[in-house]
Amino acid sequence: MQYSELAEIAVKAKSKAYANYSDFHVGAALLTKDGKVYEGANIENSSYSLTICAERTAVFNAVLQGEKEFKAIAVAGDSESFTPPCGACRQVLLELCGEDLDVVLVDPQMNTKTFKLKELIPFSFSKENLSK
Ligand code: THU
Repeated sequence: MQYSELAEIAVKAKSKAYANYSDFHVGAALLTKDGKVYEGANIENSSYSLTICAERTAVFNAVLQGEKEFKAIAVAGDSESFTPPCGACRQVLLELCGEDLDVVLVDPQMNTKTFKLKELIPFSFSKENLSK
């Protein structure tokens, strides 16, 4: 699948966000190595800190379906420019998708900017750091 198509899916997934408090809608589309796509959107809560981002709903959705190998995630937000993943999402994506994941940011004009996850979370903490 072309990343432009993945970007379109992320934009559509924005409409599934439950963002009553921030009114900031984010959509994500996570592509597996064998070509399946899992959507995500942010889901907020009146107890604000319980909010979960679009990227994490996408990856948890995929992992629950047994997926283990991922190629890319596209992320589209309501901002006038790109919406980069927050720090918590970078950490979770690193754990579950690996540092070679392509992170495709999408702006409202459908321009994309693609990074390797390892560029977005350098010198990270991971399971290797747990060895005593
Ligand atoms: N949000 C995401 O879903 N992904 C991001 O990468 C950044 C922020 C959500 C969380 C919250 O619901 C809203 O955007 C405002 O922060």
